[in-house]
This record gives sequence, C-alpha cells and structure tokens, in this order.
Amino acid sequence: MNKNTITWIGKWTFILAAAGSAVGLGNIWGFPYKAGTNGGGAFVLIYLGCIFMIGLPIMMAEIIIGRSARKSPVNAMKNGAIESGASPKWQIVGWGGLLSGILILSFYSVLAGICLNYIGISAGASSAMSSVEEFSRATASATNLLFWHTVFISLNIFIIAYGVISGIERVINFMMPVLFILIIVMVLNAMINGDFMRGLSFMFAPDFSQVTPATFLSAMGQAFFSLSLGMGSIMCYGSYMPDDENIFKTSLTVAGLDTLIAIMAGLAIFPIIFAYGLDAASGPNLVFVSMLSAFSDMPFGNLLGPVFFILLSIAALSSSISLLEPSVAYFDEEKIVSRPVAAISLGFIAWLLGIGSLLSFNLWSDKTFIAGLDFLGSMDFITNQLLMPLGGMFVAIFAGWFLSTKIVVGELSEGQEKVFNIWKFFIKFVSPVLVAAVFINQLIPFFHNL
Ligand code: PHE
Repeated sequence: MNKNTITWIGKWTFILAAAGSAVGLGNIWGFPYKAGTNGGGAFVLIYLGCIFMIGLPIMMAEIIIGRSARKSPVNAMKNGAIESGASPKWQIVGWGGLLSGILILSFYSVLAGICLNYIGISAGASSAMSSVEEFSRATASATNLLFWHTVFISLNIFIIAYGVISGIERVINFMMPVLFILIIVMVLNAMINGDFMRGLSFMFAPDFSQVTPATFLSAMGQAFFSLSLGMGSIMCYGSYMPDDENIFKTSLTVAGLDTLIAIMAGLAIFPIIFAYGLDAASGPNLVFVSMLSAFSDMPFGNLLGPVFFILLSIAALSSSISLLEPSVAYFDEEKIVSRPVAAISLGFIAWLLGIGSLLSFNLWSDKTFIAGLDFLGSMDFITNQLLMPLGGMFVAIFAGWFLSTKIVVGELSEGQEKVFNIWKFFIKFVSPVLVAAVFINQLIPFFHNL
C-alpha cells in the first residue's frame, strides 16, 4: 500500500509535538478553573485516574493506528480496518475527527486571540481600571475580537502550509522549550509573590465532600480534551512517528508532561489568587479577570502579565496546529489540492465559523443555540461532550475488538508482552466502558432538558 514516508526528523519531535498538541488552553486556562470550581484536590485525583485509565490506552491506540498505516486519520482508520478484515466504514471515525478538528479550531482561535490581545493589555494594565472592565472592553468589540482571531488563524495556516517538517517540526522545536521555561518562571513567581502553601494544599488536599457525580464527569471530559484524544490529532502526529520509537514510553511521557503542566499551571495561578484575596472558584474568567487584577497590583506585574499571556498563546498555538493538520494531511494525501491551498481553505472555514463564537461575547450574547448555550458554548458542547468522547470510544472499540493483533504487536516493540496484555485489557474493557458511562450520563440529563 502506498504509505506516506514523511517522519519527524528529531528524536524528540514526536514527544514535543504531541505534548504541544496536548498542552494548551485546556491545561492553563481550563484545568485550573475546573479544579477551582470542583473542590481542588479531589478533582485533581479523579482527573489523574481518568488520564491513566482512559487517556493513556486510547492515546496508544491512536498512535498504533496512525503509525501502522502512515496515513491521515481517515485513511489510517480505513486501512487498519481493511487489513484487519473489518468494514472500511470505520473511516467514519476519521471523518468525525476532521469535523471536530475544524469545529474546535473555530472557537479555540477566538479564545487564543483574546490571549494574544491580553499580552498588550496586561503590559499596560494598572489598578486604575478594574480587570472586569478591561475584559468587557476587550470582548465588547466584535472587530477587536475578529482582528485577533484572524491573526491567530493566519499563524496556523502559515505554519501548516509550510509542511510537517519545515512548518510544524520547526516551530514546535522552538516553542516547546520556551513554553517549559515560561511555566517555570510563572511557578517561581507564584512562590515569591503568592501564598504558595495555600495553593499547594488547595491542589493536593482532597476534599471529598465536594465530589458529586458531576465532578467525575467533568474530570473525564477534561482529561479527553486535554490529551487531544478522540479527534485524530494524535493519530495524525503518530503517523509521522519513526518506527524505532517505543509507543508505550512516548505515550506515558506525553500524558505525564500534559499532567505536569496542568498541575504547574494550577501552582502558578492559585497561590496568586489566594495572596490577592481573589476567588479560586470564579470559573472561566479566572485567568482573564482574576489573574489580570493580580498582575496589576503585583511588583513587575506589567512584565509578568505579558509573560503569562505569551505562555498561554504559545500553548494555544502548538495545540491549534494539530487541530488543522489532520484535515490538511487528508487533502494533501488524496491530492485534492496542494497543502498550502488546503491549509488556506480549511483554515478559512474555521475562521468563518469562529465569527459565530466571537459574536457570543457581544452582539449575539443573548442568542442561544443548543440547550440554552450561546454559539461558543454550543460549539464547545458539540465537540467536547459529543464528538470527542464518541470518537475516543470508537477508537477504543476498534483497537480493542477489531484491529488485528499482528498490526498491534508489530507496533509495540519486541519483548512487550506485558505492555500488550495490560493495554489490551484496558482498551477492550475499561476505557470504552468508562467513556460510554460518562457519555450516557452527560447526555441523559441533557436530552431531558431540551
Ligand atoms: N489539548 C488541547 C488543550 O488542552 C486542546 C486540543 C484538543 C488540541 C484536541 C488538539 C486536539 O488545550
């Protein structure tokens, strides 16, 4: 079969690129606010369980499928199915992934655009203007949001158009070390300027009285989103992974790095929130409103604020390129159009859809689309709670029950029987059942409320 022959050049590139995809707004913006509103340590503990029991086996499955076919997710699913004697219709899972990627990119880019905008805002912030006013000023203007959304999508198109090696690999090798350094700077800042002990105990002392079934569901959804699973990004990056890399070890490293950075983001944020007497449970506005207010009162805040928002922007960019790449790779591979044209046209679709999300902050703030949610909320709901868990569940079912053992064993290196046996048990029984349980639990109340 005609496989593509592109593989990452650097020994660490797969890990950096997959970690780049995984570490994003979900870690630095989403994780801390969700931990903050779900009782801290107890949420963190359940989240860890989800990462290793559901996320890790599915991540391995995506890489196995991607690398064995060396094709974009649609064709990887199709080839894997055909070679295993299963129906080529399994490619629908790949198509669902492409759709999710474009939908997520559309609203992710609006949020990332706000992060870009905040680099300047935090540089000029003073205690004279409240951070709530700053936030509403930035988001009340549709043209302002449109500008930053356009800048962010253009960066993505540009990088992807350059290709896997000269585009993605090159920027990843530069951005990821910067990201690690900046997050360390922010944690050090929290040690100096924040109430670090209180931050630590908030993150690690579990208060189980706060745990409800909803905590469990929220932690699981977050684990999925955070590891970029169920929509083809990891499968696509896996198709570029050199043959001699060990899938289990790299997956473990990526999941570990993603978790480490989410926890570090919490340790960068909560000590500051406590020291400045702000509310840890303030929800989605935690970084844009609460952190901005802390920076405007902090020594060197006009320097540290921009550092924090550059960190967020880099994390967002290394994630968003992995949202666009699977569909561009498909267009490229099928020779539908050239890679640059594919990047521009698919990026344009995401850009257009993103306009609905940016209007949710202003002109459409009263308009509801799905279940009382605004446009951005609806996009988030469709992808995060419908398409991604469904995609992940089907990947698990496919890998556990249909994919030929020969393919799997060929991908997991020699002498890995133990890894194989444990993985097989999880991917067959544990991961899909847990995902299905969450999926059903999230949807039943949802359809009741319609
Ligand atoms: N994992 C990214 C984050 O945590 C989001 C993402 C989801 C990226 C799916 C790619 C694919 O922000």
